[in-house]
Amino acid sequence: MSENLKIAIQKKGRLNNKSMQLLKSCGIEIENFQDRLFVTASNFNLDVLFLRDDDIPEYVQENVAHIGIVGENEMLEKGLDVEPVKKLGFGKCSLMLGIPEKDELNNINELENKTIATSYPRILKNYLAENKINAKVIELSGSVEIAPSLGVADYICDLVSSGNTLKLNKLKKSFNILDSQAVLIKSKRFDNNPNLKRTFEKLLLRIESSLKARKSKYIMMNVPKSSLEQIIEIIPSLKSPTVLPLSNEGLVAIHAVINEDKFWEINEDLKKAGASGILSMPIENIIL
Ligand code: PRP
Ligand code: ZN
Repeated sequence: MSENLKIAIQKKGRLNNKSMQLLKSCGIEIENFQDRLFVTASNFNLDVLFLRDDDIPEYVQENVAHIGIVGENEMLEKGLDVEPVKKLGFGKCSLMLGIPEKDELNNINELENKTIATSYPRILKNYLAENKINAKVIELSGSVEIAPSLGVADYICDLVSSGNTLKLNKLKKSFNILDSQAVLIKSKRFDNNPNLKRTFEKLLLRIESSLKARKSKYIMMNVPKSSLEQIIEIIPSLKSPTVLPLSNEGLVAIHAVINEDKFWEINEDLKKAGASGILSMPIENIIL
């Protein structure tokens, strides 16, 4: 039997759920994964390793996991020799400076001689060096947000997504250091195994089609024949729309695939042009 491709995903936390959903949307079935560190897909040559996100870049660099899903923030912080393959569009957050609510920080130079606590010392130090600022960086592995109230640091540099953690700790957002999202990374060392390479290419194709589908909607509507041309002009379709006859001879049905955001933009125009019964449906996959 040939070796399975191994993917590392976050065991617990913001990226776990969406990473599993992504695999599912690729038609990969993974059962009974709760509380397990390792599972094998039932219908694809894939093993899933559940790890702490901080450890994923290293596992991938060492080719223990061939690929992984991790935040760009972790990938950049670790600075290891892994290959970023594709941004996945979920897990969006920013690495930001957080300062006490009562403080003001108007210019980046005001960080001079301050103490900043962070779990991202590498990214922060690069940022400070780029801006020619001397500040003291204190590395903490977690609970960074309580450092200012404990008097350990003036400011923090941490991930912000909803902003609730900052608020709860009477901190506020200051400068944005890095925007991050989930990214698919790959080891540089398994390409010489043709089976693994083939499995990876197959998976990547499915991931790409799932990401494309996620942004698209399948729409249907009935339109008077007299306004058909006008309505086709309104629809920014992936391909030319399908026009189908209806039993009511004055009407035809239009089916098309469009970008989700566009759907909301053109809704009003469609109605004004006489379209009725406008439906939109999610799409599972688009293979172009
Ligand atoms: C980050 C960060 C904050 C929280 C911010 O932790 O350290 O604690 O998320 O999110 P919020 O703005 O929505 O409140 P993360 O989930 O990445 O966990 P980890 O650092 O322990 O891996
Ligand atoms: Zn982490």
